[in-house]
Amino acid sequence: MALWTGQRLHGAGSAYRNGRDDMETRTFALMSAGLWALLLVLPIVSAPAGATPAIDPHALFEARCLRCHGHAGAFAREQLRLDGDAVFGKSLGRDINAFILRHQGRLTHVEANALYDAFRRQLNAGGLFETRCRACHRRAYELARLELIIAADRLIGRYSGRDMAVFLAQHGSRTNDEAEVLFDMLLWHRRTIEAAHHDE
Ligand code: HEC
Ligand code: HEC
Repeated sequence: MALWTGQRLHGAGSAYRNGRDDMETRTFALMSAGLWALLLVLPIVSAPAGATPAIDPHALFEARCLRCHGHAGAFAREQLRLDGDAVFGKSLGRDINAFILRHQGRLTHVEANALYDAFRRQLNAGGLFETRCRACHRRAYELARLELIIAADRLIGRYSGRDMAVFLAQHGSRTNDEAEVLFDMLLWHRRTIEAAHHDE
């Protein structure tokens, strides 16, 4: 399933907005086209390899950083902050870019970049998930890993078959802008998971 990463998935970023505009049409289309038929056909239509770097930054953090820093989300919220687009360490008082390359873990440049990008996303969206969604759910990464899947360029409930662009627009207590940020975060988690773990 993980082979259809890359270009096909890049299209999924706009699914949320389309979803809100076009909710009923698409729900109907999905039902009539038959979601399960799509699931069966998709793995054959694979995108060129390498379009998405095959790194799951969250798993990388768990393997190399968690034993000293705890979970990535809490670490980012407590130790890091955004300065514009840059990720700063609160104690370092500067961009962590160079620091994480020579710090513990022996990261490659690609891995360091993937973690840096993950921290930035975490700082943008993670706190929101924590306040709005965590009362009822496991951590966002685990939610994406265990309960969601990407099919036909859409983020789908793995067991419910629901289209998340539709579902999240109506679910939980949040504004529409927040729902969009949360949708993008869950989609990104799921995308990196599928890119890195070919068996999930
Ligand atoms: C063996 C324990 C250990 C491991 C493993 C480890 N770190 Fe650290 N990290 C520390 C300690 C101790 C500090 C604070 C002292 C320092 O600046 O080196 C720190 C500081 C940091 C900071 C700066 C935080 C701030 O507030 O400014 C970042 C960012 C960071 N680590 C990221 C990582 C990442 C990413 C990994 C995994 C690739 C990692 N660390 C692995 C022990 C560890
Ligand atoms: C009051 C509890 C509660 C809160 C708060 C909550 N959820 Fe849920 N969520 C649920 C329940 C219960 C389900 C299962 C619903 C069902 O199957 O009908 C669910 C299902 C989901 C699913 C899986 C849907 C599927 O079809 O597989 C996702 C994704 C999700 N929630 C995301 C979120 C997000 C994002 C937020 C924060 C805005 C959030 N939830 C807030 C209770 C909650």
